Amino acid sequence: MQRQERGKTPDSLPKPRGLNDMEKADMERIRANCRVEIADSNHPRLSDEVEEYLRYLRIHRLISLPQDMQSQSNTMFRRIIEKGLRVALLKYKGPEVPVGGNATLPPEAVIGVNSSKQTDAYPHEWFDNLLKARQNHTMDDLTTAVESARGRLKFQPFREITDRDEPVIAAGKGAGFLSLIHVSPRLRGCGLSQILLPEVLKYYWQARDVPYVFVYGRTPAISREQEMKAEFEESGVVSTQNLNRYITQVLGGVKRDFGVGVNQKAGAEIICGLPDSVLDRESLNCGYLAIYKNPRLQ
Ligand SMILES: CC(C)(COP(=O)(O)OP(=O)(O)OC[C@H]1O[C@@H](n2cnc3c(N)ncnc32)[C@H](O)[C@@H]1OP(=O)(O)O)[C@@H](O)C(=O)NCCC(=O)NCCS
Repeated sequence: MQRQERGKTPDSLPKPRGLNDMEKADMERIRANCRVEIADSNHPRLSDEVEEYLRYLRIHRLISLPQDMQSQSNTMFRRIIEKGLRVALLKYKGPEVPVGGNATLPPEAVIGVNSSKQTDAYPHEWFDNLLKARQNHTMDDLTTAVESARGRLKFQPFREITDRDEPVIAAGKGAGFLSLIHVSPRLRGCGLSQILLPEVLKYYWQARDVPYVFVYGRTPAISREQEMKAEFEESGVVSTQNLNRYITQVLGGVKRDFGVGVNQKAGAEIICGLPDSVLDRESLNCGYLAIYKNPRLQ
């Protein structure tokens, strides 16, 4: 959306969807009236926040529907209290506003969510070294380094970090890990992720005092790339070279992939592609590693 307005997007790139029916003024009203509320184990109204988070996940079918709310909220409580999961809710605080068609957005609606945790899955040096190595190594080298760290330092896939059995970590220790960011489909392209993410990062820099926050991002638009789709269908994986070339093109603005753009725009360093690292057919099982550095270390 932004690139198109600045006239930088080649006509051949897919146009952003959504917002067709929404007035710019309404979109601005939503942006100006959003607040981020972050719930960790110290939050005074933790049960309300957990219920709202679960309701959001269920509405958007991000968690399975058949399970009852009670058992899901018990699981969520355990994750927050025992494993340090944090839940960030982006709430709309303004008056009722139209959002296209006949739909309106009521005050207090949750319009985006993020979950994250503090983990000691990787030591600080791992992040330091990867950031430094970018100066004299290619992205392909870095993918190899991250993948072959198995043995010396095991590369930990998404599930392993999310479910890692570790007690709540003290401030100043470990790193932040962003596990989910989701914005209501009707409101995508309004820049809401860029209100939510900076607040989550601020929480990790200030309240948790960590030097790094990292994320394994998605590359959902890669499945529009015929060459890579064919490679994936034939061999079951996208090669490191093809994935990193694709990510480089996205970072350079030649291609558009909201899965990469979301972290790039929020200030992450995109380190390297991670082929065959996640079960995500839309992304052809590809992901990438991105690192945010605490501004006090810059
Ligand atoms: C990724 C996500 C959180 C971005 O949220 P957002 O508030 O729409 O973010 P932005 O408004 O900054 O827009 C992000 C991009 O999506 C594009 N976009 C616009 N409308 C869109 C729509 N209806 N659907 C998808 N993408 C859209 C924008 O043009 C923008 O492209 P750019 O980064 O190349 O400039 C959101 O798309 C989402 O919830 N996706 C599904 C969950 C997901 O994949 N999360 C993990 C990402 S690693």
